[in-house]
Amino acid sequence: MTLTDVDELCTAIRGSLVGDPRGIKVAKLLEDYALHARDWRAFCHFAEGRYTRNLVYRCAEFELLLLCWGAGHESPIHCHDGQDCWMAVLDGELEEVHFRQRRGPGGALAEGRTSRFQRGGVAFIHDAIALHLIRPAPRSSGVSLHLYAGAIDRCRVFERETGRSELVTLGYDTVRGEVCTKPPEAVRAEWGRGGPPAG
Ligand code: SIN
Repeated sequence: MTLTDVDELCTAIRGSLVGDPRGIKVAKLLEDYALHARDWRAFCHFAEGRYTRNLVYRCAEFELLLLCWGAGHESPIHCHDGQDCWMAVLDGELEEVHFRQRRGPGGALAEGRTSRFQRGGVAFIHDAIALHLIRPAPRSSGVSLHLYAGAIDRCRVFERETGRSELVTLGYDTVRGEVCTKPPEAVRAEWGRGGPPAG
């Protein structure tokens, strides 16, 4: 299959999530899209000083976001609220750094492996694997496609030195390419559980 259209990708993901609990087919679909599609450029949106989260599609089973990373940007160290997360690199080169909490109260997070991904590379993470942060490789910027199954509306972000965490609500910079001025709850209510809002 050669996937060149994001809506076609969403249809294929929906079909694949059922009966693919280890997500192997899903990773293949994301790789295929990353290597062949160009339509994601319509959803790109960069900001000064921080990475952006751009909603492409949301339904009962999953949420698809395009993340745009400038040089030096970095996500916080975070968990995935018990959900599965795939990241496919569309442009540039990105790094994923794993962390784990030490046993017992307090204490710095233990840093694990760092992996690098270029266009077509797909990473997978779940809370049972690790916490992680994402950032562009040194001197690189990047664009990545993130599939969360199910959607992640909130997650915990962690302080590396103390291991302390707080629960944060995740928002959107753009929705289908339009700058988003609404609170995330309003966007989620509009999309409902079945796909994009009418009109
Ligand atoms: C994010 O969704 O803001 C961080 C990237 C990820 O964990 O996939």
